[in-house]
Amino acid sequence: MKPNLSLIGQKMNKKTGVRAVMGDIQEVLADGSKQYTNLSAGNPMILPEAAAMWESALADLLEDGKIAPIISQYGSSYGTDELIQSIVRFFSEHYDLELQKENVLITAGSQQLFFLAINSFCGPGSDFVVKKALIPMLPDYSGYSGTALDLSIVEGIPPLIHKLDRHMFRYELDRESFLRKMRNDHEIGAVVMSRPNNPCGNILTEEDVRFISEACREANVPLFIDSAYAPPFPALNFIDMEPVFNDQIVHCMSLSKAGLPGERIGIAIGHSRYIQVMEAFQSNTAIHSSRLGQYMAAAVVNDGRLAAVSQHEVRPYYEKKFRLLKDTLFAVMPDDIKWYLHKGEGGLFGWLWFENLPASDIELYRQLKAKHVIIVPGASFFHHTSSHLPHARECIRISLTAADEDIKRGVGLLAEVVREMCKKKVL
Ligand SMILES: Cc1ncc(COP(=O)(O)O)c(C=O)c1O
Repeated sequence: MKPNLSLIGQKMNKKTGVRAVMGDIQEVLADGSKQYTNLSAGNPMILPEAAAMWESALADLLEDGKIAPIISQYGSSYGTDELIQSIVRFFSEHYDLELQKENVLITAGSQQLFFLAINSFCGPGSDFVVKKALIPMLPDYSGYSGTALDLSIVEGIPPLIHKLDRHMFRYELDRESFLRKMRNDHEIGAVVMSRPNNPCGNILTEEDVRFISEACREANVPLFIDSAYAPPFPALNFIDMEPVFNDQIVHCMSLSKAGLPGERIGIAIGHSRYIQVMEAFQSNTAIHSSRLGQYMAAAVVNDGRLAAVSQHEVRPYYEKKFRLLKDTLFAVMPDDIKWYLHKGEGGLFGWLWFENLPASDIELYRQLKAKHVIIVPGASFFHHTSSHLPHARECIRISLTAADEDIKRGVGLLAEVVREMCKKKVL
């Protein structure tokens, strides 16, 4: 017999966006009878320098006899004092901020951070108005829709598409549409965005971020900037960028892409009026994140290794992968087809647009799967309100975490499939 689920139970029982596709991908990959080229993974590579840093942080804790008191006790729902103080010190020194410990919250990963954020500020209010989370520029991380306890509360503004040359493009923020939405729709509870962006690798300019943050101030809603790929760690920016801080912004970080996804560490820095709400929510739902991971993190934030490894090892590794992807595409993709790669400004992915492709992103995914290549179809990054747009159905995401040979092989097969599709005009 099927269990009777609450509305929240029903919503959370459905995997959203990439996670839905990922279910299929996991099944495919688990079928050991075939060899797949996996260009879908969001799991970071285990880089030797990052792994060595984390191992030595753990070894030091063992050697100092600190493990028992760390793992055998509960702690504060804000996070351990050690990690919070190290974040306060690091950011105060490097970004000229006046932080107090009340401005910092440690969560069980940034996915959990967005769960706390979106469900604290969006959803049904005491006035019965259902507040939405607004993404200023689509596409953006499909995981935001997954974290919302209510259906359909994540919406976004479609981007302006700017072709840079024959096969490159870049999204731009549609300032006018964003501002119109912020001023006319009184049901916005929070604004969320990733910078660098997952999936497309765009980094919105500092002026754009300040523009968005001013609109949030006017509407009195928090702006959550997902910095899962940003400097100072994991520093997956391939162009210059600085994080932007002010009291309207909650700067949200993750240690996952710097090599610690298994320990689940997310870090929020923001005004205490936002941080305190999320701390209470975390206290009720999870108590706190893993203390062992937090102690390891505190050590490498304090001695500067985390920032150094991010900048000197993690960033160049993925930057090189992006160049390989770009060079391979330019070498093998048919020149007479309208394909465009989003400018690689940062992040862990390449984002491809096939203008007027005579098949949907899902069909492209299926045909590649038949050739044992797995990519991620793009529509779910446009969230439910915009996933029907023709452009949303013409894009795919390719992971930079694959081995060089896999990128070359997968892109070669992608070129074949797209060439055939365009010849046959499959619908
Ligand atoms: C943009 C973005 N935000 C958040 C997350 C979640 O990361 P975490 O492992 O910190 O929960 C991811 C994971 O890939 C991501 O790409």
